[in-house]
Amino acid sequence: MRWTCPSCQQPLSVRDDNKGLACQNNHQFDYAKQGYVNLLLADQKSSKNPGDNPEMIQARHRFLQQGFYLPLVERIAHHVNQRLDHVLAHKIHSTDAALTTLTLLDSGCGEGYYSRELAALIEQNIALYAFDISKAAVKKAAGLHKQASAQAVLQHAHSDKGYDFTAFFGVASSFNIPVQANSIDVALSVFAPFDEASVLATLAPNGIFIRVLPSNMHLQQLKSEIYQQANEHKAPKPLLQLQKIAQEHVTFTAHLTPTAYTQLRAMTPFNFSGNKNDSSSMNHQHTPQEQQATQPMTCDFILEVFTRHDNR
Ligand SMILES: C[S@@+](CC[C@H](N)C(=O)[O-])C[C@H]1O[C@@H](n2cnc3c(N)ncnc32)[C@H](O)[C@@H]1O
Ligand SMILES: [Zn+2]
Repeated sequence: MRWTCPSCQQPLSVRDDNKGLACQNNHQFDYAKQGYVNLLLADQKSSKNPGDNPEMIQARHRFLQQGFYLPLVERIAHHVNQRLDHVLAHKIHSTDAALTTLTLLDSGCGEGYYSRELAALIEQNIALYAFDISKAAVKKAAGLHKQASAQAVLQHAHSDKGYDFTAFFGVASSFNIPVQANSIDVALSVFAPFDEASVLATLAPNGIFIRVLPSNMHLQQLKSEIYQQANEHKAPKPLLQLQKIAQEHVTFTAHLTPTAYTQLRAMTPFNFSGNKNDSSSMNHQHTPQEQQATQPMTCDFILEVFTRHDNR
């Protein structure tokens, strides 16, 4: 267990009653029904319910589960797999790599799509720590994991070759990551705010950090419909404390059904600057004929891989 107590920063472990976590100073965090813990202290919140709201989470889930962004997951997996031996090198006392566990952090995990799909593409035991500041997001991510575990879906996806997949979900802020220092092999931040110093502190000696952000042409058809002049995404801010070892533009075209188009609008910030009537179109049922008319949508991401400066 890599979670730490948000009050005293001591490691958390599972309580004897198996109903939650506790630290040595007896700070207690109960499991919610879906199996997550709330590690966000009241003074770390800027509002009562920070982060994405349930409607955005649901729209994103419905959109992502159709696989439109799978090409991006495959590129993330490529970068992880390429570095797997090096990332795990410090752990391997035994020469049997399958005995070691890759510790994965999904920072601002949303409904958990990327780490879920990524795990299925990595041939290694995985312990996932996924968190988001939005309780609705973590509830959804943990619920989906619980459901999939119960139905042995993940076992099928990941463990055909005998690998374990264990996942821990928490409500937490990426500006105060409640995870033990030097414990994470692969940290992931996909379209989510993050704090470089906090990520750096979590990374194991050979750990890597993968950041994915939208790039210039991302969703340009959608943007040009909303704005008179499509405003370009700014270049990602350079990081100062982490060292960039790889960068790649991931660009492809998704062919969206009208329903997927509506979901996409609802899951992006564009929804708020656009037409107020959009929420009603979310509930509009498209006929099978309408659904056949797909619309091309450019997807354009920038994926960057970083390590600690003391590691190459
Ligand atoms: C655009 S969504 C991306 C979610 C997910 N990574 C994905 O790509 O499906 C951004 C996420 O960051 C979360 N978020 C915003 N501020 C955060 C913070 N300070 N700490 C952790 N998560 C945060 C939001 O609640 C939301 O789920
Ligand atoms: Zn404590």
